[in-house]
Amino acid sequence: MQPPLHQACLPLVPLLGLWRGSGNGHYPTIDSFEYSEEIVFAHVGKPFVTYTQKTKRVSDGQPLHSEQGFLRVVDSTVMEMVIAQPTGIVETHVGSFVSNGESFIVNFDSVEVATTPSAKPVEQVSRLVRIENDELTYDLSMAAVGEKFQHHLEAKLQRVQPD
Ligand code: HEM
Repeated sequence: MQPPLHQACLPLVPLLGLWRGSGNGHYPTIDSFEYSEEIVFAHVGKPFVTYTQKTKRVSDGQPLHSEQGFLRVVDSTVMEMVIAQPTGIVETHVGSFVSNGESFIVNFDSVEVATTPSAKPVEQVSRLVRIENDELTYDLSMAAVGEKFQHHLEAKLQRVQPD
């Protein structure tokens, strides 16, 4: 049985549920690509929200990037997030958010990006997430592999199942 939502997670309610959609990515060092994406924001009754994400390449349906993390609310305008990637990259973020009942916007800037010895070097990540009318869009920018901070991804997803 699903436990009740922890009160500290109330500002994160707009995120909760199963989201499906698609996106595209680019970076100066790689070929551009298109992907389909599934995201789940869920809770276990504790003061955090869980985040799981997986993507597939549109051209051949093969698994692409995936990541998992946790979000916590700090106060009425600030939240924090940690994300781990199987490629050896870990991001910690502080995000400022605005939520007015109709739309929800959170702008995450990395506090630290840690990488395992064999991972590609990533220095900085920003993630801008907007939700309006059960549609989630995001942009992700990064400074990585010696390139200046710039856009890597944009995507649009629909909420297909509430929490
Ligand atoms: C929807 C999520 C994402 C998708 C679909 C995606 C996809 C890709 C693809 C297809 C490549 C090129 C092939 C490869 O090296 O595997 C790539 C490269 C890369 N991505 Fe992403 N990526 C995603 C998220 C991220 C995130 C969150 C980061 C870092 C925080 C990141 C960092 C990198 C780096 C460092 C490279 C290597 C660039 C190079 O080798 O020159 N990606 N990504």
